[in-house]
Amino acid sequence: MNIIVTGGAGFIGANFIYSELENHPEDRIICIDKLTYAGNMATLDGAMKQPNFAFHRVDIADRPAVYQVFEQEKPDILVNFAAESHVDRSIENPEIFLQTNVIGTSILMDACRKYGIRRYHQVSTDEVYGDLPLDRPDLLFTEETPLHTSSPYSASKASADLLVMAYHHTYGLDTTISRCSNNYGPYHFPEKLIPLMILNALAGKKLPVYGDGKNVRDWLYVKDHAAAIDLIIRKGRAGEVYNVGGHNERSNLTVVKSVLAALGKDESGIEYVTDRKGHDRRYAIDPTKIQRELGWSPTVKFEEGLAKTVKWYLANEAWWKPILAGEYQDYYEKMYKNR
Ligand code: NAD
Ligand code: DAU
Repeated sequence: MNIIVTGGAGFIGANFIYSELENHPEDRIICIDKLTYAGNMATLDGAMKQPNFAFHRVDIADRPAVYQVFEQEKPDILVNFAAESHVDRSIENPEIFLQTNVIGTSILMDACRKYGIRRYHQVSTDEVYGDLPLDRPDLLFTEETPLHTSSPYSASKASADLLVMAYHHTYGLDTTISRCSNNYGPYHFPEKLIPLMILNALAGKKLPVYGDGKNVRDWLYVKDHAAAIDLIIRKGRAGEVYNVGGHNERSNLTVVKSVLAALGKDESGIEYVTDRKGHDRRYAIDPTKIQRELGWSPTVKFEEGLAKTVKWYLANEAWWKPILAGEYQDYYEKMYKNR
């Protein structure tokens, strides 16, 4: 099969590509990526050496360029990871989130309709469900939980989900959607909580915890997310949504302390800073449906995954040093100075 993976030069897309190349050598993987600040060709170094891998630098919101890739590559499946993915950036500048996450999604699905496809898969997020209260641990997001978004990022992702469901209903496009909780692991861009804390701690910088640090996220090792998507694209039912998560809720403060413990550092660098605007309190996924229908379950425990992740950052300075030396410095200054 020919599988187009959009956003494959980013964190989860790249991990998915490596899993597919390893587990399905019979398939051809074609990556489409615009290479925004979050996309990195160094991440795909290993894939570029494989004969069954191809890369096209294309913006998913550029209709003629997307159509040209479809004409050339004749995909059977498309998995759409490409997105503006950082909540804090969406609060500063929502427009690009609409352009990529909403318009881009519709253009990809138009291409699927025009050229034909066996399956279009949308990589969505638990953030489309909004947040849950801290004092109701019994409440979890199911696929039936109403969409109720908080940030421009989550609103753009929910809009895309609605479009995917509309294309399935109206045009009969074969679609699936996965809504996963927070991922962590190798190649995670340093603006996100876990890599930011690892790299700040290594540099002896402060560790900026938003608000009271009690917000809860439900963490999943990235390879377990890749395995879930692989099952959905091959065995999932058309028109369905699948939640993906491993019942691994932690407060941000607990996560930061775990990072410090894994690095053998003390907690003196922790600094409470002004909260994120509209900060969602708690996310928690109920993954019963994907477990029951597709037999998926997470394989990596948080302590093990975090240790692997810390080890990866320690061993891969050559990957993250150029990122920290570039545009990221201006971003960090703007977001964290005087916060
Ligand atoms: P990322 O920011 O690390 O990577 C995004 C990739 O998309 C980059 O390579 C970037 O260059 C590319 N891209 C951005 N705009 C593009 C465009 N217009 N055309 C083509 N390529 C473009 O993101 P990530 O964390 O790997 O997230 C991937 C997907 O998974 C996103 O759709 C995100 O909403 C979803 N998701 C992420 C998480 C998480 O914890 N990171 C959890 C659930 C779902
Ligand atoms: O839940 C899935 C989502 O997880 C994905 O859809 C998003 O693409 C992904 O970025 C992630 O969103 P979050 O906002 O949860 O992730 P982030 O790493 O930005 O922040 C995690 C938590 O840590 C959040 O409560 C905010 C907090 N935080 C974050 C940063 C960067 C801090 O306290 N300090 C920080 O410096």
